[in-house]
Amino acid sequence: MNGGNGTYSYSKNSSIQREASIIVEALINEVIAEKLDIENISSTSNPIRIADLGCASGTNTIFATQNIIEVVEKLYRSKGFESKIPEFQVLFNDLPTNDFNTLFTSSLPSENNYFVAAVPGSFHGRLFPEASLHIVHCSFGLHWLSKVPEEILNKDSPAWNKGKIYYTSASDEVANAYASQFDRDVDNFLNARAMEMVSGGLMLLLTTAAADGVSRSEMSQAAAVMPVDTMASGAGAGAGAAVVVVLPFGTWT
Ligand SMILES: C[S@@+](CC[C@H](N)C(=O)[O-])C[C@H]1O[C@@H](n2cnc3c(N)ncnc32)[C@H](O)[C@@H]1O
Repeated sequence: MNGGNGTYSYSKNSSIQREASIIVEALINEVIAEKLDIENISSTSNPIRIADLGCASGTNTIFATQNIIEVVEKLYRSKGFESKIPEFQVLFNDLPTNDFNTLFTSSLPSENNYFVAAVPGSFHGRLFPEASLHIVHCSFGLHWLSKVPEEILNKDSPAWNKGKIYYTSASDEVANAYASQFDRDVDNFLNARAMEMVSGGLMLLLTTAAADGVSRSEMSQAAAVMPVDTMASGAGAGAGAAVVVVLPFGTWT
């Protein structure tokens, strides 16, 4: 991911992700109001810790986390807990190579009402102490694999991709190798978060996907007509709820 603020930086080339986040903002607000168990967490939690996983260096992470804080504050007021509105800490996570300098010097407003910290490391493993996070947000990060699947690089494997990473026109073996790697990565992601989240917390995952039945070669044309889909499910030992907002390819362009 390109750092800085130059022409080819993520900062200057992430308006599509930003637009998608705007599309689902109302949904995310609704879900926080409905599912975040503030009766439970308000008695024990100060500060409320929000982790944005795969934050990059641009302003999208700032908008997303600021919005979450505003919605949580509103929720406290609407439930009559105004006097208990907690302090907030936002933990910005990305790979160690991320340009955290640009995040903190250009993207983060100089005045804000929350505490911040950078957490470099891979979200496929543990990043935070046990039962320490109240809200986890991750937008357009979960589809990043931890590595190229080994079979793809092995000339003797049916999944060898002849040195390419492109797979919409590759064999099923190649696509399956990527899919299996994704399964393993998501499993590791969820297991780590299950340890790190408090009971009654909330995980918000925003990602792209193709609907069942859409072939790899059809993806770019098919998605434009599909609705945004949501699904809610329990997410492991600590997490109160997980909401995955799936944006089929092309829905926001
Ligand atoms: C497309 S950007 C999304 C940035 C931001 N969340 C947004 O919505 O604009 C994906 C980010 O995920 C980060 N990322 C990829 N794999 C990661 C991992 N294993 N652990 C932490 N961050 C990761 C990348 O470095 C990149 O900054």
